[in-house]
Amino acid sequence: MSILDILRKKRDKQTLSRTEIETLVQGITNKSVADYQVSAFLMAAFLNGLSLEETTDLTRAMAFSGETLDLSGIEGIKVDKHSTGGVGDKVTLVLAPLVASTGLVVAKLSGRGLGHTGGTVDKFEAVPGFQTSLSNEHFFDQLRRIGVAVAGQTQNLAPADKTLYALRDVTATVESIPLIVASVLSKKIAAGADVVVLDIKYGSGAFMPTKAAAQELAKQMVAVGQRLNRSVSVLLSDMDQPLGIGVGHTLEVEEAIDTLRGQGPADLNEVVLTLGAMQLVGGGKAEDLEAGKTLLQHQINSGKALIKFREMLLAQGGDPNVTDNYSLMPQASIMEELKAPQSGYIHRLEALKVGEAVRSLGGGRFNKDQQLDLAVGVKLHKKRGEAVQAGEVLATLHANDPDKLAAARAELAAAYVIQPDAPGHSDTLIGDIIWATP
Ligand code: URA
Repeated sequence: MSILDILRKKRDKQTLSRTEIETLVQGITNKSVADYQVSAFLMAAFLNGLSLEETTDLTRAMAFSGETLDLSGIEGIKVDKHSTGGVGDKVTLVLAPLVASTGLVVAKLSGRGLGHTGGTVDKFEAVPGFQTSLSNEHFFDQLRRIGVAVAGQTQNLAPADKTLYALRDVTATVESIPLIVASVLSKKIAAGADVVVLDIKYGSGAFMPTKAAAQELAKQMVAVGQRLNRSVSVLLSDMDQPLGIGVGHTLEVEEAIDTLRGQGPADLNEVVLTLGAMQLVGGGKAEDLEAGKTLLQHQINSGKALIKFREMLLAQGGDPNVTDNYSLMPQASIMEELKAPQSGYIHRLEALKVGEAVRSLGGGRFNKDQQLDLAVGVKLHKKRGEAVQAGEVLATLHANDPDKLAAARAELAAAYVIQPDAPGHSDTLIGDIIWATP
C-alpha cells in the first residue's frame, strides 16, 4: 500500500492496520515520506482521532524506530518517571537519588527546557562539572555501581518521534491525546524501564489546561502501557502555580538539596513522596502508597537520600560539595524584590507567567540554541491562598542583566492576582492517581 492510501484512509475516518502504521513510521524514520505528507497524517489524526489499537500500534512502531536500551543485564527492577513539564518542576533531582537509595534502579533520560518550562538536564548543569551527555557504557556502568543515572536523551532513541514532534509543533497538532500518548510512551519504552510513572500536569503552566483533559490522557497512557506489557501509572498534579518556591536553575538545585535534607517546601515534598511511593509499589518495595511514603521519609531523615545524590554528582563529574556550599553554583548579581501592590489574598499565581519572567531574565530559551543563564530566576515568598499586606515582599527576582529586568518584573507582577477576600475554595495539589492495570 502507498502512503497516499494510508493518508486517504485516515482522512476518511477509517482505521489503519498495524502494518499500515508500521509502513508509515518506517517511512518517517528513513525520510521516504515527505514532511508535507507526515503533516497531512498528523492533521487527519488530530481531527479524526486514533483508536486505542491504532495508538498502541503507533507507540510500538515509534518505540522501535531506532535504538532501544536493553536494561535486562542490570540486576534489580528498573524504574523511570516522566513529567509532562511545568514551572519549578525539580522533582527528578530529588526523586532519582531518593528512590535509588531504597535499592530500585533509576535509569532516567531527561530533556532540556522548552518554552516557559524548565528541563532537568539544564538544571543539573548548575552543578559545576556535572555531565549529562553520557556514553551508553558510562550510563550502564553507573547504574550497576550506584543504581542511578540521569542522562540527556540520545539522538537515536525513538527517532520517529523527533520528526513527528517537530512537525506537530508547526502544524497546530500538539494537543492531540493519542499523539501525546505515542510520543511520551514510545520514548519510555525505548528507554527500557520495567516500571514507568508519569506525572501529568494540568493548569496554566502545563500543556493540558484542565484536569478533565489530563484524566483522559492518563487513562489512555495506562491502557496503551497495558497493551504493550509495561506497568504505567499516572499521577495527575496541579501546575496552575509553580511547584515549590524556586524557579531557575541554581535556585532549583538548592531547593532539591533542601528537600533531600527534609527541609523542602511542602508541595514539592508531597509530589516527590507520592511519585516515589508509586515507583516503590510498582517495583515491589512497598505494599501501598502510605508504606512507600514512610520508607522514603525514612531515607530522607537518615541522610541516605542525600548521600545517594552526592554519589550521583560524583559519578557524573559534578562537585558534591555543592550540597554544603550553594555559592559553588552560579549566583546572580542583582536581587530585586517584588512587593504586594495591595492587601488581600493571593487568588492566583500563574505558573505560565512566572515561567515567562524567568525566561525573560535569561533562564529559559526563546530559541533552541540559546545559552542559558543558570544563576537567574525567581524565589516565591508568597503562594496561592496566602494573605498579604500592601508592601509585603511577594517574590525576589535574581537577575544578572539590568536590561532584562523590566520585562521580567512586569511578567512576575502579572502572575499574582490579589483580591480583598479569602478564596472560597482550597486547591488540591494531587488531582488523582491512576494505577497501572496488570
Ligand atoms: N512531551 C512529549 O515528549 N511529547 C508530547 O507530545 C508532549 C509532551
